[in-house]
Amino acid sequence: MIDSLHRVAHRGYSAIAPENTLPALTAGVLAGATFIEFDVRTTADGVPVVIHDRTVDRTTDGSGKVWELTLDEISGLDAGTWFSPAYAGIGVPQLTEVLDLLGPHDAELLLEIKPPATLEQVKNILGQVADAGLLGRTVVQSFDPAIVRLAGEAAPEVRRGLLRDGFDAGQVEIARELGISYCNPRMSSVLDSPATVAALAGAGVSVMPWTANDAALWPGLVDAGVAGLITDHTGELTGWANSL
Ligand code: G3P
Ligand code: CA
Repeated sequence: MIDSLHRVAHRGYSAIAPENTLPALTAGVLAGATFIEFDVRTTADGVPVVIHDRTVDRTTDGSGKVWELTLDEISGLDAGTWFSPAYAGIGVPQLTEVLDLLGPHDAELLLEIKPPATLEQVKNILGQVADAGLLGRTVVQSFDPAIVRLAGEAAPEVRRGLLRDGFDAGQVEIARELGISYCNPRMSSVLDSPATVAALAGAGVSVMPWTANDAALWPGLVDAGVAGLITDHTGELTGWANSL
């Protein structure tokens, strides 16, 4: 068994349940994920909710930008039927509900803050994580380096990660400058640039590529030195990793 490889449930166990909902996050825990990844945005009235897209259109029966809708408006939406009628009536969770769900379990939290996000909103998000006693079990990540910086300002003790479509030129220096613990690029970057994975590891920065859904590629990614794999197929990954 590879004990040290993080098995990351992307938007929860999103291959079998609607992404970023309580059933998907629960399924990720039950399938043995060591990290649960989810996406946080803030409503028009300042409440952090867990949803991936800029709008609610794809994953609910509503429409509009998340930051232009109130919590009341978002709470009434169905975030399950688009995936399967079996999940009809499942809602968009508030961050506090997700923290309540994950708190009693062992899995770490890979909390992505989606832009736009102000310092006040980032402070509010990390304040809720702190109130739940989960800052020590959380890695905050974002594609936006400015948000990664805001997270360091809001909670200097929290581990932080930078998401990238690919590795940048000078990736190690960027990581050092941001003070991050994780650099999580699109999977193809790892396959194309294993030397960058080694250089980041030498600088104390772990790499967890996304979205590693093709099991045929997992051995090569592990050989390239990744710290974990972010996948929609959590159960398959934990089963595979546990059999090594
Ligand atoms: O955690 C990696 C992954 O979530 C980044 O892409 O678009 O699924 O948020 P996205
Ligand atoms: Ca994400």
